[in-house]
Amino acid sequence: MADLKTELGEAVAAAFAAEGVDASLARVTTSDRPDLADFQSNGALAAAKALKANPRDLATRVAARLSGDPRLSGVEVAGPGFINFKVAEATLATRAEAIAGDTVLAGASAVTTPRKVVIDYAGPNVAKPMHVGHLRSSIIGESLKRLFRLRGDTVWGDAHFGDWGFQMGLLIVAVGDEGRADAFLTDGEGPFPDQSPVSLEDLERLYPAAAAQAKEDPAFRDRARKATAELQAGRPGYRALWQHFVAVSRTALEREFGALGVTFDLWNGESDADPRMAEMIAHLEARGLLVQDDGARVVHVAGPGETRKKKLADGSVIEAPSPPPLLVISSEGSAMYGTTDMATIVDRRETIDPDLILYVVDERQAEHFEQVFRAAYLAGYAEKGTLEHLGFGTMNGTDGKPFKTRAGGVLKLHDLITQARDKARARLTEANLGADLSPEEFEATAHKVAIAALKFADLSNSRTTSYVFDLDRFMSFEGKTGPYLLYQVVRIRSLLRRAAEQGAGVSPIAIVESAERDLALTLDAFDQAVSDAYDKRMPHLIAEHAYRLAQSFSKFYAACPVLIAPDDATRGSRLALSKAALDQLVLALDVLGIETPERM
Ligand code: ARG
Repeated sequence: MADLKTELGEAVAAAFAAEGVDASLARVTTSDRPDLADFQSNGALAAAKALKANPRDLATRVAARLSGDPRLSGVEVAGPGFINFKVAEATLATRAEAIAGDTVLAGASAVTTPRKVVIDYAGPNVAKPMHVGHLRSSIIGESLKRLFRLRGDTVWGDAHFGDWGFQMGLLIVAVGDEGRADAFLTDGEGPFPDQSPVSLEDLERLYPAAAAQAKEDPAFRDRARKATAELQAGRPGYRALWQHFVAVSRTALEREFGALGVTFDLWNGESDADPRMAEMIAHLEARGLLVQDDGARVVHVAGPGETRKKKLADGSVIEAPSPPPLLVISSEGSAMYGTTDMATIVDRRETIDPDLILYVVDERQAEHFEQVFRAAYLAGYAEKGTLEHLGFGTMNGTDGKPFKTRAGGVLKLHDLITQARDKARARLTEANLGADLSPEEFEATAHKVAIAALKFADLSNSRTTSYVFDLDRFMSFEGKTGPYLLYQVVRIRSLLRRAAEQGAGVSPIAIVESAERDLALTLDAFDQAVSDAYDKRMPHLIAEHAYRLAQSFSKFYAACPVLIAPDDATRGSRLALSKAALDQLVLALDVLGIETPERM
């Protein structure tokens, strides 16, 4: 259902056109003076200037054309030529009724041509604990997955598990050096032990140590490189050992994602693209795209004249191609991060043939994706414009730098969730909430509050901006926070429960009070918020709508008694409005990946 603002915009455009004025100037916006009007159009000012006409006269003529519109109860010209619109109460009531009756989309609309969409997000890695960088990708990606699904697309969320490359060779050598994996280090064909020789704790301890050692110890680094090459070439013992690393990590990661309410349709690893590699390289070669560069093989992706100044080691400055060439095969013969991403595009094309692939990855990887996308387009693996990098800013500490723990380390996601849950319990108790709940229900509620706080704090910021991590603020029951929204949801649920106990039901919606008008208008704006969020891939537009809706309900509830309304019809109408607000709010939060409790 198109929202009122859009519909009015079309009507005003038609009136402009009928007056011989450029219809694109007819923009309708929400009124700055809600006491006087619901919407306004300032277009007559610019249009009159272009026509050298009197703006007030033009506005008056446009207004006269619209004054018969049955959706409007008032069309007035104000000031130098603003047109103010007041929506008829009956129109608001009909529209609110339609939203209340839309049990699936709560007033939002599906796309006309559904697409097949792959969303590549989270990108966790074997043996490396997830940190807050993965948190943002997980939260934003999960929300986009839900948003695209809501609008009718077929969506595959893919974790794109980092299970390949040099890190794996490092781990094989490090585990081998501890003398625990002898059975896997033999040259034979197996069979190899079913039991993993390492736990998650071992991997998390060994990986950073091995990475550090590789930086200082060239002999160790060379052994790790060799192990990587042998693993990738298929050495059975290494493959078996690696499978254990992958399985141990994945189990732990899935537990963490589960706690966050993040799920994937695909857990494809970078390794799954490996079988596509040889054919891909041959294809790049046949197309003449693969060129020698200092012993390595690269694809040039910059067009003519695309250069930037680059300082060389000797201090001289040259004009280098920008973006730089994509490194496909290093001088040591290994496939690189970008090679894997290219091969993954080939794999997705063969298995899914998506219309669109969205990559939800830190903004700092923007150049990497620019290189990969250009190379994929050149190779004919994807149609131009069907690969999109959706970058995001960092979660910062109060010092403005990417968030670190007090000890200076990266904060593990697991510890963050634990901290958030502790705080949620304390906040609930302080606010005297959840006192009547069973211990299990209290715990489940605290978990929901914690996750809502983290997710809403992230998603209420525009994806591209960085924000400051402040658990105390995120966790407050007041202000623009997840807990505030959950509190409003629970309040409406409690109201509806009490109504049901009293045998009070819904009846046709009537819009009388200004708080009812505001609530109806807010409900009506959902469709636009959803389609804007979808078009721009910006979940914060949904977060903003959810917050506005919660506030609008709160004001309505304060101004318009529901259970003690003056008559049954008013009570029934207000209950219907409350229920519509609840359903839309719950749906908006669901799109953000936020679960709501029944009570607290
Ligand atoms: N595993 C990578 C990391 O931790 C992120 C992967 C992003 N996705 C991709 N298709 N490259 O940085």
